[in-house]
Amino acid sequence: MNVVLGVGGGIAAYKAAELARALMRRGCTVNTVMTGSATEFIQPLTFAALTGRKVITGLFDGHSPEAVLASSVEHIGVAQENDVLVVAPATADLLAKFAHGLADDFLSTLYLAFTGPVVLAPAMNTNMWEHAATRTNLATLRDRGHRIIGPDSGDLACGTVGPGRLAEVEAIADAAVAILRKQDLSGETVVLTAGPTQEAIDPVRYISNRSSGKMGYALAEAAASRGARVVLVSGPVHLPPPSGVEVVTVRSAREMRDAVMANLEPATILIKAAAVADYHVTEVAPQKLKKTAARVTLDLDPTPDILAEVGAKKGDRLLIGFAAETQNLVAEAKRKMTTKNADMVVANLVNQAGTGFESDENEVTLVLRTGETIHIERASKRDVAHQIFDQALRLRLALHAKQ
Ligand code: CTP
Repeated sequence: MNVVLGVGGGIAAYKAAELARALMRRGCTVNTVMTGSATEFIQPLTFAALTGRKVITGLFDGHSPEAVLASSVEHIGVAQENDVLVVAPATADLLAKFAHGLADDFLSTLYLAFTGPVVLAPAMNTNMWEHAATRTNLATLRDRGHRIIGPDSGDLACGTVGPGRLAEVEAIADAAVAILRKQDLSGETVVLTAGPTQEAIDPVRYISNRSSGKMGYALAEAAASRGARVVLVSGPVHLPPPSGVEVVTVRSAREMRDAVMANLEPATILIKAAAVADYHVTEVAPQKLKKTAARVTLDLDPTPDILAEVGAKKGDRLLIGFAAETQNLVAEAKRKMTTKNADMVVANLVNQAGTGFESDENEVTLVLRTGETIHIERASKRDVAHQIFDQALRLRLALHAKQ
């Protein structure tokens, strides 16, 4: 894991040396970039000695034409070679530069060239921190998806007490490593199904269920944020397509089955979060059915069981199914895992207030092929999605170790 540690010019710059060590203890290679004013507070030599790597202090380090040419593209190289950019202390000046895209020194130029995750640890005087300009810049940077750590409250170097102190270096290092861990699905293709299906009765009516698709969409988003290529086969839902995800929209179980099969080949992980209708109407009426006084009967035929069909030819793909139950949760999940040849079944009770269908939170039990049963406490569907991937990757390692 390669980390660029950007050091800004503030009194907390000396703590960045401790941060470099904390990152190295977590197995990171640390490349330090200091602003000109940071070098007034702490010597580049400190970082060079601690990290064993060259420290970059200026956009044009050296004045020979060759040196100028080499260093003028160095920020691109540094941007490409590192997995995460951590800026500590992120001064009010650096936050302003980043927010507005100014690029007048190495660190701000690197920031623009860097496409990976960014962690900012602000530190400054309380009034500077609370100034409307800083608040606005921070909101911009947060909207851009950067992780902001701290500042903490306490005694400040300027003699006042309040927010502005650099967060604990261990917390900053933990945040940087956690972000990198989340790239653990890069190189994978995750194929997901989500939402309900609609089985037509006639041109205007259908049979469906109350699935909102939220859990499947949260899984798609989590997989994309962890670096996977994601194909989301979605039934009709009212959710915006997650960014960075290929969405294939379908209506019926048959269409969902065809879309999954068409994307099966490159898949390394398949997750069936959709609430697929178990039956479809045998003969869909070509015209809208008219009301009569008589009782009507609909003939229904079973739909294709997509999970079972994939289970029969999954190879070494990891296959994860869902079980929406109203009773006998674990026993039903185990039965579905075995009969459909899945590696994991995510089981949830759908008759419980605040979780399951339509809600933003979920509480699930994972039943694994290894025989384990893991309970995931009630949390946002996004958090639950990440925990499902954590367990899925652990499970795959365990299954491969057994082979
Ligand atoms: N599933 C599927 N195709 C179907 C029905 C279900 O792929 N035609 C998948 C679901 O996406 C889910 C799992 O199978 O991952 C279990 O779905 P569920 O409806 O709970 O199970 P069923 O097999 O339909 O069992 P039952 O209706 O008896 O509870």
